Amino acid sequence: MEGFKYNQYLRSVKLYRDEVESFDTYPFCLDAVNNLFTLEFHPKVTFIVGENGTGKSTILEAIATAYGFNPEGGTKNFNFSTMSTHSDLYKYLKLIKGVRRPEDGFFFRAESFYNVATNIEELDKHGIGARIIDSYGGISLHEQSHGESFLAVFLNRFRGRGLYILDEPEAALSPSRQMTMLSRLHQLVQEDSQFIIATHSPIIMAYPDSIIYELKGGFRKREYRDTEHYQITKEFVNNTERMLDVIMK
Ligand SMILES: Nc1ncnc2c1ncn2[C@@H]1O[C@H](COP(=O)(O)OP(=O)(O)OP(=O)(O)O)[C@@H](O)[C@H]1O
Ligand SMILES: [Mg+2]
Repeated sequence: MEGFKYNQYLRSVKLYRDEVESFDTYPFCLDAVNNLFTLEFHPKVTFIVGENGTGKSTILEAIATAYGFNPEGGTKNFNFSTMSTHSDLYKYLKLIKGVRRPEDGFFFRAESFYNVATNIEELDKHGIGARIIDSYGGISLHEQSHGESFLAVFLNRFRGRGLYILDEPEAALSPSRQMTMLSRLHQLVQEDSQFIIATHSPIIMAYPDSIIYELKGGFRKREYRDTEHYQITKEFVNNTERMLDVIMK
């Protein structure tokens, strides 16, 4: 994406293909990896969308880990680990950073958010000084509904001038709360933040000042209305009876 003049935090990611022994095995066999050369990020919002299993979480985790985030999510200060299924893809990535460094950052993974919430409680139980949960709105993330706890993170913990890597942020959010999320995203972008987001949500991916990569045999740049997610959702909403007939035949 030549021509971007913004001072973004992450400009692109490059795969050291020469160092990959085989593209036949995980994670190198995935669409998201075996066609990856250099992926350019939008200075504001980059979406990665595509079918289940195409490798969105794998690539996001590797980018976040290469950047210094905990592979299971959180800020750079988290280093808990509950599983050891993380791929070593991050070792093969080169991140091209911008001249400015972010003042805030978060790797948000819907699938392991529970562990982040538990880790905050444990740290606060043994910690001295300011409680970590206070920067998340003050209420235990386990004592809120799934969606409420997601929003608590976006609304309270994300402070702007940040690099935010989000994997399915919509997972627990109702359609109207996804719009709240969109509005928060816009605020944070205006406060000099950069986002990289894997999503299945046609609402979230509607954010206009963005680039959408659809994974389909590699990363393809797509206009919002040309994405499969948008078209399938639109078709379903506009022609529900007909679609149900087809699906249930
Ligand atoms: N630890 C692992 N070992 C081997 N294969 C794995 C491992 N983790 C994931 N995979 C494989 O990699 C593929 C991509 O997984 P990934 O979680 O990156 O997909 P995704 O695009 O995020 O999908 P979704 O939309 O469902 O979240 C999966 O189909 C799975 O077969
Ligand atoms: Mg995923």
